[in-house]
Amino acid sequence: MKQHLADRLICPVCLPREHGLQVDIRLAEDGDIVDGTLTCCHCDRRFPIRDGIAFLDPGQQEDRRANRYEQEEVVSSYLWSHYGDLLGDEQATDAYQQWAGLMEPHGGLALDLGGAVGRFTFEMGCKCDLAVGIDKSLAFIQAARRLMLEGELRFTLKDEGLLGHEVVIRRPAQWRPERVEFIVADAQRLPFAAATVASVASLNLVDKLPKPYAHLQEINRVAAIAESQLLLSDPFSWSTEAAEIDQWLGGKEDGPYAGKGMDNIEALLRHGHEGLSPGWQVTQRDHVWWKIRTHSNHYELIRSCFLKAAR
Ligand SMILES: C[S@@+](CC[C@H](N)C(=O)[O-])C[C@H]1O[C@@H](n2cnc3c(N)ncnc32)[C@H](O)[C@@H]1O
Repeated sequence: MKQHLADRLICPVCLPREHGLQVDIRLAEDGDIVDGTLTCCHCDRRFPIRDGIAFLDPGQQEDRRANRYEQEEVVSSYLWSHYGDLLGDEQATDAYQQWAGLMEPHGGLALDLGGAVGRFTFEMGCKCDLAVGIDKSLAFIQAARRLMLEGELRFTLKDEGLLGHEVVIRRPAQWRPERVEFIVADAQRLPFAAATVASVASLNLVDKLPKPYAHLQEINRVAAIAESQLLLSDPFSWSTEAAEIDQWLGGKEDGPYAGKGMDNIEALLRHGHEGLSPGWQVTQRDHVWWKIRTHSNHYELIRSCFLKAAR
């Protein structure tokens, strides 16, 4: 983890109180902490940095094998989804460039929440001082960091059954690896202080979280109260695998979040509902076609509806 990021981190366990973390470095290379510990000055909770990756997810470390986003095949699917255009694949979409095109350049910090294998984080690294990709999946964060550090990433694309072929992603020269970082953390308990972030993205995440409202509150807490921007995009595939129905922010006939998820989220953001003030101005709503590849004859085409907001 880049050493200078340590100054910006807070303890995710102590939230809503915000306490800084003390960094102990056992091994560093070129400003990158390879091995060390971040310790909360208040509760003494220790967060390891191992192989350059900071582990700031305070939740139960559930069996990683049970998390589909840790599986090699799923990592391969997401690498194709994020970087398929760089492989020259004619089936690839330009979804991440479209999303990035909606963001204004700015100084300071950008967060890509649930950023997976990092494409949007790299895109934001070209528009701000530091872009941080945050994800619960260690396998995703490892892949993103490898591309950041080594400039290329080799992986197997599944053709059919046990057949596959190796491909290589090469990081474009204009990307700024010195301006990106990737950490393991929870998008519902962000290890960043209030009002310190200039732009926040939540792409295809809100319907995957057990507490979508807590995620919106966290976005709201960390975003600067003026001159900040938010991009939220989602297919709103609400499911009880991710969250209890009473936690969904849409996709229901009745209750507080009856109707469509995007309408409800827009209303929550605009009116600065509990834990979401000051309110946001929603400047744009539309959709992006996003694709995930399972194997050479199987793709998932997803209509990801977005809103862009500013305050
Ligand atoms: C559907 S994928 C979308 C990934 C990426 N944003 C994109 O659009 O390609 C959802 C991502 O959220 C991550 N995720 C799920 N729950 C999370 C949480 N509580 N905190 C952070 N990331 C989470 C998953 O590991 C996965 O990378």
